[in-house]
Amino acid sequence: MCGIVGYVGNRPALSIVIDGLRRLEYRGYDSAGVAIIDNGLVKTEKKAGKLANLEKALAERGDDGIGAGATGIGHTRWATHGGPTDRNAHPHLSDDGRVAVIHNGIIENFARLRTELEATGVEFRSDTDTECAAHLLAAEMRALREAGAEDGPALLAEGMRRVANRLEGAFTLLAVDVEVPGAVVAARRNSPLVVGRGNGENFLASDVSAFIEHTREAIELGQDQVVLITPAGIEITGFDGAPATGKEFHVDWDLSAAEKGGYEYFMLKEIAEQPQAIADTLLGRLSERGEIILDEVRLTDQDLRDVDKVFIVACGTSYHAGMVAKYAIEHWVRIPCEVELASEFRYRDPILDRSTLVIVISQSGETMDTLMALRHAKEQKARVLAICNSNGSTIPRESDAVLYTHGGPEIAVASTKAFLTQLVACYLIGLHLAQIRGVMYADEVAAVVEKLRATPDSLRSLLGRMEDVRALGRDLRTASTVLFIGRHVGFPVALEGALKLKELAYMHAEGFAAGELKHGPISLIDEGTPVVCVVPSPAGRGVMRDKVVSNIQEVRARGARTIVIAEEGDEDVRQFADHLITVPQTPTLLAPLMTTVPLQVLACEIAAARGHDVDQPRNLAKSVTVE
Ligand code: AGP
Repeated sequence: MCGIVGYVGNRPALSIVIDGLRRLEYRGYDSAGVAIIDNGLVKTEKKAGKLANLEKALAERGDDGIGAGATGIGHTRWATHGGPTDRNAHPHLSDDGRVAVIHNGIIENFARLRTELEATGVEFRSDTDTECAAHLLAAEMRALREAGAEDGPALLAEGMRRVANRLEGAFTLLAVDVEVPGAVVAARRNSPLVVGRGNGENFLASDVSAFIEHTREAIELGQDQVVLITPAGIEITGFDGAPATGKEFHVDWDLSAAEKGGYEYFMLKEIAEQPQAIADTLLGRLSERGEIILDEVRLTDQDLRDVDKVFIVACGTSYHAGMVAKYAIEHWVRIPCEVELASEFRYRDPILDRSTLVIVISQSGETMDTLMALRHAKEQKARVLAICNSNGSTIPRESDAVLYTHGGPEIAVASTKAFLTQLVACYLIGLHLAQIRGVMYADEVAAVVEKLRATPDSLRSLLGRMEDVRALGRDLRTASTVLFIGRHVGFPVALEGALKLKELAYMHAEGFAAGELKHGPISLIDEGTPVVCVVPSPAGRGVMRDKVVSNIQEVRARGARTIVIAEEGDEDVRQFADHLITVPQTPTLLAPLMTTVPLQVLACEIAAARGHDVDQPRNLAKSVTVE
């Protein structure tokens, strides 16, 4: 998601902020902007697109244009509310021009706040949720002054606490006030923020890479905290104003490691980010009563009730997400759902009409095969709904509706967090369709939603015990072939596990439907052939689980070395596993959110052990813009 930097000290803020943004650009590059307090003025510059566009605009202004002030904030955006334009770029100014605000996250109650502010005469200049916070902060500070408070850092902090208490959702907010030079205030809820402690200067950032060349002493803020930095100090309080402390730590990574958050590869970092990515994708999509709200979907409920068939079209990992979605949609919505490789879709002349819903899934939003399939579907008058991770890219632009995944930028070529967030988006669409078509009762939808909400925590606990999987990966580095088997939603997970291994480790790897093995591929099994077996939960679908266990026995009988992924508590399966990897209990349809993760770690580790470039495997590109 967005990258945030704040600086206050004794040096010109601009270059420090820009350098910080450069290290945070991996978090988003839809736009970039800065605000500097200089000579009694708040000076801003912001530009759509990459940081280079902002730098060019600043160069054209000349040094005097934005000044040499020693207080500044900067932002690099990964768009959520409002397109990636100059006008939606951060910082956003308050209506009185005093306050500049930058933001990471989503303010869920922004529509209500905007209406309230507009009723008081405030004119909005952007489509963002962030702008509310700027106007609110100015209004709260005004009210405090009218009640007798004096301008100064304490007033800025109190204003921010009042704003934070009014916001719902996830946010890191940073603000400066032209009348309070020498101070930057920030608030944090469910969104990252670290403080850098310098000598006569202090820093704020989304992660330490932004300030590590200036200081390695950092403080991690807790949930619901406000921090005020001045050249002389750092003051932390809760949203209630009570004094608080953050967690102090020393950063001992070098700069290149810091950009990867201390991880060896972006892929490992992105694997670790998955719990948050799921939580972010769910954010703002569920009402308090557990109902699904898909407000970016510009199809009416009636359009969706008229749908009599769903096609899901995608490539690679996104196609595997579509395969999982088919099980969920057919089970919940009870309408036929077909999944098709985008590169094949239009060549077989599929039967499409107005009542067909085509769901295209793409992380990049630029994949040419998927784009051409989308265009074909539109020519046939089908309705097209995109699931996409890249705001403003071509696929969502050309679709009738879009549901963005909020996975944040994915740098590693191998897709990880994009896949899990695509699954979440597919589940949301399935539940939404079931809800508005009256196929599921509200309490049934709410029950699934509750389980979905629990997945980030389950995933965190799973990720905390991946050491065995990594050791297994190192052990498997010399294998000549690895097979993957699964049934039902475990089948696409098996395909995804094999794809990860092929693209990263350049090994022969294949995924099969577990029941299909005996129809031919079982002859691939030799003494010691590693077979990764994805076992369904015994709860609810015991028969399916038992069938997979039989398939495991079949491959074992032929000498396979079985690596079994099973649910915690499924003790019976232990006897069939040469290596057992347990995952937290999850309802069957949601299980891929857990079972995929050890396979990502395994592929990453095998590739690294074989000496390959994990983040940029040979012959591949992150966004495939040719057919
Ligand atoms: C997966 O690890 C790959 N990088 C690849 O299969 C990818 O999912 C596919 O090219 C589709 O890309 P998209 O989601 O950006 O459309």
